[in-house]
Parts: sequence; structure tokens; C-alpha cells
Amino acid sequence: MWIQRLGRALGQGRRHLHAKIVKGTSIEVQPEPESAASSMTFPGVWLRDNCRCSECFHDTSQSRRLDWDTFDTAVRPLSIRSDEAAGEVHVSWSDAHESSYTLDWLRQRSFDADRQRAYLEDFYRPATRHWAGAEFQQVAQHFDYEEVMAKDAALQQWLQALAVYGVALLRGAPLDEGVVRRLAERVGFIRRTTYGEEFVVQAKPGAQNFAYLSLPLPLHTDLPYYEYKPSVNILHCVVQTESQGGSNLLVDAFHIADRLRSDHPEDFERLCRTPVDWNDIGSEDGREFHNIWRAPAIWASTRVSTTVCPKRDSHFSVTLTKVEPWYESYSRFVRLARDDAHAFKTRPGDVLTFNNIRLLHGRTGYDDTEQNSRYIVRAYLDWGHHLLAAPETRTQTRTGSRAQTPARMQQQKQQQQPPPSSSTMARGDEI
Ligand code: OGA
Ligand code: ZN
Ligand code: ZN
Repeated sequence: MWIQRLGRALGQGRRHLHAKIVKGTSIEVQPEPESAASSMTFPGVWLRDNCRCSECFHDTSQSRRLDWDTFDTAVRPLSIRSDEAAGEVHVSWSDAHESSYTLDWLRQRSFDADRQRAYLEDFYRPATRHWAGAEFQQVAQHFDYEEVMAKDAALQQWLQALAVYGVALLRGAPLDEGVVRRLAERVGFIRRTTYGEEFVVQAKPGAQNFAYLSLPLPLHTDLPYYEYKPSVNILHCVVQTESQGGSNLLVDAFHIADRLRSDHPEDFERLCRTPVDWNDIGSEDGREFHNIWRAPAIWASTRVSTTVCPKRDSHFSVTLTKVEPWYESYSRFVRLARDDAHAFKTRPGDVLTFNNIRLLHGRTGYDDTEQNSRYIVRAYLDWGHHLLAAPETRTQTRTGSRAQTPARMQQQKQQQQPPPSSSTMARGDEI
């Protein structure tokens, strides 16, 4: 740190940095000399909203302290000064506040379209690559289960493949029922649903779910009747039937939606516009549930998702005139999907993982007898909860001081006393 400061004092690492007010409300920053291409424009209101001083921003919780009762959206920069040695821009505002921004911070938040695209693809989600059924063998990558569990690089590669193609296969998993939980927890949190956390798909008498039959299971997305659908579906094959059938069917419904949008735009629009009632009302292990959610079959606005499911409610809460056209459009979508579906039979030790709101999946029928059964353990993973930060964010993780809790206070007291001889203290709660 001190070497850096010394360097600055000696004028080393000096860089060009020019900033000016444009159109009275925005700021233009020019980090390289005579290169208009490198200049970045920032709206004043956005800069003021993102002031990082301790009055405007709470550092350890990384939260704004902004007061919307007094925040002036017409705020203007009155003067601006760039500090080349420190690589900072200082702004005085019309609301009598002063802010400073580092060039690196500004660069990372540039409104330039290419930079924003790079940020969204590298940091938010990689761009998806949609595929036709015939391409399944090329796009469905295989990973070794143990490697994914042990090595962060393998974990990252598996998640990347899953994010891009919506499907990835892990091989070589042990045949115990804990695999799906361990895998989900390697990434984030296992998702509890009315069917439990990890649960078994096998043919059983008195099935409460269509999947618990050995009949063919038509293409569908799981849990369309939840407002917040889990995005990753994990199917661990423990025992596979030796009879014909029992294969999984997979189709990239984003690809089908792309085709529908270009070849039959009216059908596409209708499926995006018409809310459908999805439901699951029943009981599991003696507990009753009542899950209902209305959403269109293709949702292309905020969170892209596609839904096809035999668990569609018999209520259809739309205007009468919309019913028949919707059936025409939906049947076109489902037929296109069915014609494109790829059948794939997992083997014991395989863990099939796929995006539950992108791919449609199904299963071919099979014979279920005592000598020839099929046993799949499954779980859902919430994609939004990555416990493993992207490598570039790891250094930015919060390091705020922790609040005192009775347990921590007790622990501190113990630590102030001399440690018990020759024993290693457990420091399990260290960050
Ligand atoms: C399900 C399902 C697939 C399978 O239970 O929803 O899609 O392989 N099962 O049995
Ligand atoms: Zn401030
Ligand atoms: Zn399913």
C-alpha cells in the first residue's frame, strides 16, 4: 500500500484522465489522450445516486443510504476536477454535495453497449446457445461427478455448460440417495417443494403424481404452479430399467420458441400474452397442498421461461374468445417440441442436470416389475443462489465486522482465557 502511495507522490503511474460536464447534466470522462472512442458518458443523476461517500453509501452492507424524500432527480454537476495521480474524478453537485469516483469503478459501469454486453455475459449470465434435438450429442457435455465435487474449476465448467446449453450430465456418482443434496449444496441451496427436498421417482401404487407411474410422461416443465420455479432440475439415476423405455426426453424449448417466433409470430405472441392457470392440488405424506399460479406458456419479458405441463388447471381464466386460438397456438408449440425431442437413457451413476424453465423434459414408458425396476432420486436447485462467487468477485466479498451475539460473546470470553493445554481450538465459524 505504502509503495503505491510513494509511487503516486513521485508521479509514477500518472495517467491521462480528463473529465468535463456535458449538456449541463452529464459527465464525460476521457481516460486516454485523443481517443474519442474511449470516452465514457455518465448521467449526473446516476452518478449522484451512486455516490460512494459514507453519507450516501453504507460500506459493509453495500447498500445505499439514499433518502428518496430529498433526492433531486434534476441534480446537476456544478464543477468537476480530475485527479490524474489518484485516478479519480471529483464532482460538486447542485445539491451542495461532493462525490468522488475512481476511474476503475467508472470503467466497470460504463454505459457503452459493448462493455455492458461483456459485463452481462461474464458476470451476470453467459449468453445462451439454443439447440435443435439433433444437436444434443454435441451440446450435452459430460463431467465427472467427483471432480465437480472436489474442484472449483470443474464446478465452474459444469455450471457454465448448464447456463449456456441448459443441460449437462455428470457421470460416476455413487449410488446413494444423498448425491442430489450434496450436488445442490455444492452450488447453493436445495429447494424444498411439496414433494420434499430430495425425493424418489419410481412407479408406485396409488401414485399422487403422474411421474410415479411407469406410463410415458409427456413433455413438461416441473412445478409451473409455483410463482418462483426452481431453475435447475437434478435427476440422479440409481437404478435404471433394463426393459425398453425409461429414457428421458429433452428438448430446448428456447429453440422451439425461436422457431415459433420466426415462423408463426402470432402463435408466439399469443402464448406470451395469455395467462394460463397451472395447478397442483393434492397431498403428499398426509400433508395437503394447494399450489396455483397463473402465467403464460412462454414468458419472454422479465425472466424467459417456457411451460408445458399436463398439470394445467381446468379453470382457464381468460376471455371466451381467447380460448380456441390459444389451443391452436399451444398445440403448434407442443407439436414442434415433440418432433424435436431427443431421447436419452441415463445409466446408474449418471446425474442429469437441466434448466427447468428452459428445457421441456419427459420420459418414455417402461415395464416395472419386481426384478426390473427404475429408481431416480431428484432435487431442485435454486440457480439464483451461487455460494461460489465468480472468481473476480472473491476479493470484493464483504469483510465487515460481525455483530455480537450471545454465542460469540461467550466464545470471545473463552478465547481471552488461556487455551486448554495441547488442544486445538475449533474455529469453525471463521470467515
Ligand atoms: C418428473 C420427471 C423423469 C424421470 O418426475 O417430473 O420428469 O426420469 N421424471 O422419471
Ligand atoms: Zn455522498
Ligand atoms: Zn418432470
